[in-house]
Amino acid sequence: MEDERDHDTISSSLASLSKQLAGTKLEGSADIPVVDLSVSDEYFLVHEVVKASEEWGIFQVVNHGIPEELMRQLQVVGKQFFDLPEAEKEMVAKEGDFEGYKRKYLGGINHWDEHLFHRLSPPSMINYKYWPKNPPQYREVTEEYTKHMKRLTEKILGWLSEGLGLPREALTQSIGGDTAEYVLRVNCYPPNQDLGLVLGAAAHSDMGAITLLIPNEVPGLQASKDEQWFDLNYINSAVVVIIADQLMRMTNGRFKNVFHRAKTDKERLRISWPVFVAPRVDMSVGPLPELTGDENPPKFETLVYNDYIDQKLKGWALEDLPVY
Ligand code: OGA
Ligand code: NI
Repeated sequence: MEDERDHDTISSSLASLSKQLAGTKLEGSADIPVVDLSVSDEYFLVHEVVKASEEWGIFQVVNHGIPEELMRQLQVVGKQFFDLPEAEKEMVAKEGDFEGYKRKYLGGINHWDEHLFHRLSPPSMINYKYWPKNPPQYREVTEEYTKHMKRLTEKILGWLSEGLGLPREALTQSIGGDTAEYVLRVNCYPPNQDLGLVLGAAAHSDMGAITLLIPNEVPGLQASKDEQWFDLNYINSAVVVIIADQLMRMTNGRFKNVFHRAKTDKERLRISWPVFVAPRVDMSVGPLPELTGDENPPKFETLVYNDYIDQKLKGWALEDLPVY
């Protein structure tokens, strides 16, 4: 039964993928690019991910090699955690730093969510006290997912580096290689009946280097391009790749740090699992010297990543946007 259902969803997602690839505009959907990673022509892949990063700053990847079963398990343990009584969720509550569980229902156009935030990597930075003990499989599933997230991130950064004419490891190294920070945020947006525009996440760009996100089956993610909002037409089991501020800064503006937001659904609970990949906090990040010169002077200041975070959070506080 389970298998059949999987099979159906796979074939319907392939149908929707081939429609998109053929350039047929699905009603009400956007052309947020889709990149099929099973293509053996690496030159083509490099071209596709670079083009998507330049034009949109957001794309979906399919046939990425992460087992579907593992993605389902991550979704199950996340949902089980949010289904727990409040007192149990509070066992991993935030204590001052960004890690931990928090409820934040501001209403209006502001944040309407509860979330769980914790580091995944490097191992030396993990605080297991913020990882739920319940459900008991949470840790094992999340550790396995982390391995895949690292592998996929480094592959994508490798293609992006090559597309910029740099050695394959360049972008991974410029965020610290194995010391780069991977942080998971599980966003839980309960249904909202409000007639006004209620956003689970207000419009923002992510502050790290790159984000890899999977949602549950409820749509809601929107990306901005040419001052318009586009719905993400999520393909079952795809991974959504979001170019964040530091890749935009390192490429001297060539890649777009896409502005995006998340709507809540009127009836259904929406959950999403972004993994934020960011430079180690003590690294200096700015336009890469190989990508700048007399013809293309640096457009951004080189900053220690920690100072960048401070500046961004100050800006968010002033604008009354969500502070993560
Ligand atoms: C985020 C984010 C979007 C979503 O947490 O940074 O952009 O779909 N989330 O929940
Ligand atoms: Ni985001």
